[in-house]
Amino acid sequence: MTTIFKNIKELIQIRTEPVSFVSGKEMNKLPTIKNAFLVVENGLISDFGSMDDCPEIEGEIVDVTGKMILPSWCDSHTHIVYAGHREDEFVDRIKGLSYKDIANNGGGILNSAKKLQQTSEEDLYEQSKVRLEEVMQLGTGAIEIKSGYGLTKDAELKMLRVIKKLKANYPIEIKATFLGAHAVPTEYKSNKDAYLKILIDDVLPKVAEEKLAEYIDIFCETGYFSAADTELILEAGKAYGLIPKIHVNQFTAIGGVQAGVKYNALSVDHLEEMRDDDIAALQNTTTMPVALPGCSYFLNIPYTPARKMIDAGLPLALATDYNPGSTPSGNMNFVVSTACIKMKMTPEEAINASTINGAYAMGLEHKVGSITKGKDANLILTKPINSYGFIPYAFGVNQIEKVYIRGEVFK
Ligand code: NIG
Ligand code: FE
Repeated sequence: MTTIFKNIKELIQIRTEPVSFVSGKEMNKLPTIKNAFLVVENGLISDFGSMDDCPEIEGEIVDVTGKMILPSWCDSHTHIVYAGHREDEFVDRIKGLSYKDIANNGGGILNSAKKLQQTSEEDLYEQSKVRLEEVMQLGTGAIEIKSGYGLTKDAELKMLRVIKKLKANYPIEIKATFLGAHAVPTEYKSNKDAYLKILIDDVLPKVAEEKLAEYIDIFCETGYFSAADTELILEAGKAYGLIPKIHVNQFTAIGGVQAGVKYNALSVDHLEEMRDDDIAALQNTTTMPVALPGCSYFLNIPYTPARKMIDAGLPLALATDYNPGSTPSGNMNFVVSTACIKMKMTPEEAINASTINGAYAMGLEHKVGSITKGKDANLILTKPINSYGFIPYAFGVNQIEKVYIRGEVFK
């Protein structure tokens, strides 16, 4: 099956020579072809170029005059498998309670864990697939999903099995992350080490045996888990081949970035609180920093200092953090816009951060994240727009006309 898109106003994020990610000044370069064609064969990108060179081949012709095509968003940090919602906590925060106050009162992650423990695997799948389809409709064509709202062996495995089922039933790439160390359950409040021991001795071997995760995560944060706990968990995960992608520096900088770099983390995520030595620790490493502006927006906390980081030569990826507590939104279009408006990223930087760099942060840079021959034809076809800068500019409205997954329209 061959599809030829013709008269593409601008074909965005073309990479003839494949790149793993872009950093520093390179982030401000977004290669495009104006008045372009794109050929998709059997779900893969097989050719593209200027309309002047458009080949005469058999296939379905789609004339997209006035519209642009870019690779789907790559959302490298989500928690979309969860049960119920927490809008009551949202109202409590409006009235003046802090995220921390709510967590200390048994709300927050523990509240979601209680709900999830009482939800059947089938019900959890049904609730989660609605969110997956929703974000795919919003242009996400590859996604990472974490456990971490189970906090018991059974409930953590239940979450990971739901992710496995989503992987089997949907055509996009899904990566699974084991986040058993997301919070200390109430019954282990005064014995955190015992909980970590259960995760390491009991849960982790089962996760590995059933091949339920590619990545391992921990919430390295004051009041949750320390840098030493982080090293312990990452070391344990390493024995099973699990690669670190970790939550660090959301509210306080306590050495999580350094622990991540030490264990060759694929990514370190959140980074709302960045000290100079955290930025220095990331320089010349293979660890991708990931910013989650939807979380900063929703919790009214600082934004990741993207300008400072990119100007220091670092790469940066953008992701949603879609979860019921800190970011109940999986809209990557909003993330791109917010990164430009609040973090002073250029449209070029934000699009690179949400495509190729996001792909890298999931180990998928060879498969998605750019218009490159041989990559999956996971594409966003825009509405008629004047320039790609209109995507972040027109915040709150998505400029998406159609979403293609492996060359087929996703409905
Ligand atoms: O990434 N910070 C840790 N975990 C999630 C939010 C957890 C929750 O409030 O449910 C996050 O923001
Ligand atoms: Fe998160």
